[in-house]
Amino acid sequence: MQQTRAIADWFRPEIQAMQPYVPGEQPQGGKFIKLNTNENPYPPSPKVVAAIQAALTARLERYPDPLGTAFRYRASEVLGVPPEWILCGNGSDDILTIVTRAFVGPGHKLRLPYPSYVLYRTLAQLQGAVFDEVQFQADFSLHADFARADEDLRLVFLPNPNSPSGSLISPRDIEQLAARLPCPLLVDEAYADFADCNCIELVKKNPQIMVSRTLSKSYALAGLRFGYLVAHPQIIETLRKVKDSYNCDALSLAGATAAIDDQQWLQENRSKILATRGRMTSHLRELEFDVCDSQANFVWCTSSKRPLKPIYEQLKQQQVLVRYMNYPGWGDGLRISVGTDDQIEACLSLLKALV
Ligand SMILES: Cc1ncc(COP(=O)(O)O)c(C=O)c1O
Repeated sequence: MQQTRAIADWFRPEIQAMQPYVPGEQPQGGKFIKLNTNENPYPPSPKVVAAIQAALTARLERYPDPLGTAFRYRASEVLGVPPEWILCGNGSDDILTIVTRAFVGPGHKLRLPYPSYVLYRTLAQLQGAVFDEVQFQADFSLHADFARADEDLRLVFLPNPNSPSGSLISPRDIEQLAARLPCPLLVDEAYADFADCNCIELVKKNPQIMVSRTLSKSYALAGLRFGYLVAHPQIIETLRKVKDSYNCDALSLAGATAAIDDQQWLQENRSKILATRGRMTSHLRELEFDVCDSQANFVWCTSSKRPLKPIYEQLKQQQVLVRYMNYPGWGDGLRISVGTDDQIEACLSLLKALV
């Protein structure tokens, strides 16, 4: 019999060597108050459920619209950009994957800030590329090195608002950053619906700037998997070559189109979350946590006074799940998603007893 190599050796060396991306815990049993993955605590618009039910009675034996035309037309009106400027994705992670595959090849460099969304690293590694992490300054503003025009640099990711900090870089600073960079800049606006401003207008002014969005957070559709990209039409057209032919299924297209159509639901939901975020921030500060001003649907708490991991563990024992994050060379913290008032009340009263 022919000698075969060990299974591990069948893989490309960069796949063998890389650490897997580990998503936040999704407990399937128990009665957790779940404040660990920035889901929306409120349900999606009832119109979404109705649209999915209608799609279910339609012909599932047929393939879906490969370009998500109905969604793009409705989103075009909401965003004020033509439909040709929009690409649909199976969650915004799919959009980030498509963009990385299109722009970044082996040996190229992909830049991201640190600490931020760890998936960007994984996407670079999958391409056999190098990831270049540039530390934020202590106040979560960008370091001048973030704009360095390295020769191999092919793509820059900037989550805005950032996770885990919830901090925001102004569109003016982003415009100046793009002017110094030699490559495209993707502004990941997963949380922008909770912020005071966004970068859609910049996309219209400068083809180098792209914006990705998700329906997982502000539209309460994490379970549906839908995101989109706003970029110059020439970029969108070329990215269509890279995406899976049918990257969004018929049910998610129907649900996403109904969701973006119900702007009133979005705004009511957003107002509740921002009000809770404000109250939560003041209470956590009263408990002597250091809390960043957040422009997202979560808050980032650090402490020089007390270890945070035991607090995370004790909260978990009491069925309250927050995200403990430890960033080597930076420090650790608790990222707590904004829940309903009752959920946050329960979390805060446990914290009060613990500290
Ligand atoms: C900064 C950032 N970008 C993108 C995503 C992915 O969102 P989606 O659910 O659309 O894949 C997340 C999810 O947590 C995120 O935090």
